[in-house]
Amino acid sequence: MSRVLIASITELCAADHENRPERLASWTANKTPDGVKAMFAQPGLSLLVGELDGQVVAVGATIPAKGEIALNYVDPAARFRGVSKALLSAMEYGLLRQSVAEARLTSTITARAFYHAAGWIDDDARVACQGGEGYRMRKRLA
Ligand SMILES: CC(C)(COP(=O)(O)OP(=O)(O)OC[C@H]1O[C@@H](n2cnc3c(N)ncnc32)[C@H](O)[C@@H]1OP(=O)(O)O)[C@@H](O)C(=O)NCCC(=O)NCCS
Repeated sequence: MSRVLIASITELCAADHENRPERLASWTANKTPDGVKAMFAQPGLSLLVGELDGQVVAVGATIPAKGEIALNYVDPAARFRGVSKALLSAMEYGLLRQSVAEARLTSTITARAFYHAAGWIDDDARVACQGGEGYRMRKRLA
């Protein structure tokens, strides 16, 4: 999971971190193996993985109490194979099952078109995101 998260941020999110070492360092700081272990211990955070051929190739997380999608990252080698679409559907379904009627997230610049294609709409709010700017988005689940 740590490997996928760090590779995804480093290789796919250049539009967001602009290859600035300080942004990359702060974004990946809590994605180390110890950081991922700490995520498992975080109350209210639900972690999911996507697999291809028995390998973890995508990592997602939700915070059901906030109706929030907190993580959604794919291994660069597994990009454009539908894994994230499947993982996002699973996270949306998980939130719906926990009575979340409208889900929310902060999208990177990198992922914005992906979320639009999955039915998410802009909240018109630009927010601070990993040293740059992100887009608040929402989707009605029920
Ligand atoms: C955004 C991201 C999760 C998409 O992952 P992916 O596994 O390549 O996406 P999928 O293969 O499931 O794509 C699903 C659909 O979205 C489309 N899509 C994916 N990325 C897209 C993009 N950047 N722009 C436009 N469309 C995109 C695909 O073409 C596909 O369309 P289809 O259903 O018509 O075939 C991936 O690029 C990523 O991990 N980016 C870096 C991390 C990041 O920004 N995460 C979001 C944090 S909020």
